[in-house]
Amino acid sequence: MGRLGPFTDDLLAWGLSRLREFPWRATRDPWHVLVSEVMLQQTNVGRVYPRFERFIALAPTPAACVAVPLADLLVEWQGMGYPRRCRNIQEAARVIVDRYDGVVPRDLGALMELPGIGPYTARAILAFAFGDDAAVVDTNVARVIARVHGRALKARETQEIADGMLPRGLARDWNQVIMDFGATVCDARMPSCATCPVVVHCAWRGAGEDPARTTAFTSRPQARFEGSDRQARGRLMKRLTEGSVAVTAVAEVMQLDDVVRAERLAASLVGDGLVELVDGGYRLSSTRR
Ligand code: ADE
Repeated sequence: MGRLGPFTDDLLAWGLSRLREFPWRATRDPWHVLVSEVMLQQTNVGRVYPRFERFIALAPTPAACVAVPLADLLVEWQGMGYPRRCRNIQEAARVIVDRYDGVVPRDLGALMELPGIGPYTARAILAFAFGDDAAVVDTNVARVIARVHGRALKARETQEIADGMLPRGLARDWNQVIMDFGATVCDARMPSCATCPVVVHCAWRGAGEDPARTTAFTSRPQARFEGSDRQARGRLMKRLTEGSVAVTAVAEVMQLDDVVRAERLAASLVGDGLVELVDGGYRLSSTRR
């Protein structure tokens, strides 16, 4: 390969034969890639695995997604968390149908205007679906880059370094390799520096303060789930997949003593467009707006 930087060269040589197989890597359909990347934003691969193909079966195209009641999509989403993403997917489908004739746009700016699609997801769609030269920076990739450079990096710097490393024409493979390397070898807590295939190019090498700890994009410790608003909302969302819930039963379903808090949380789900209040009961939103 030679023409690439030594780090890129060596990591590609190590990773190409080791790529993890996932259903979302077996497709180049931009809509399917978009759905998978939104799922993977905040849910780990193990949980997304069984859900991705079922969701795609329900909403195989943007036009099909728009035609499915949101409630049905939310039932399929149940258990993945952060259900606003599910609504965003349908909203994105609506924009794609209305503005782009149902075809996912092959353009960074246009993709980033879609609801729920940020710089990471937009580049992932360009690279994984279209094979365009886009460097994706997720938490794994940012960690690898910070460690190799041996210092904490800002978001913009990290993206620029990632852009500079990208082997032209190989974005699809390269992004998968560096993601997989971050997920398996350059682990957040237990990096395998002793057996690392690119340790000779690394400034950090596991010694001293981890530069990834304070780098943009790298995960902050998750807020406590037990007792959180998110847990309470999740309980209500789960119950609503089985049918409507009377307003008077909401605190009980959320397992909260504080009725005012329960009502506020239910109202926030209504505000997010996920839930609607009909005849004194909450139900999953079914309306198409
Ligand atoms: N392959 C493609 N995108 C991915 C992601 N976000 N996480 C893990 N593997 C992937």
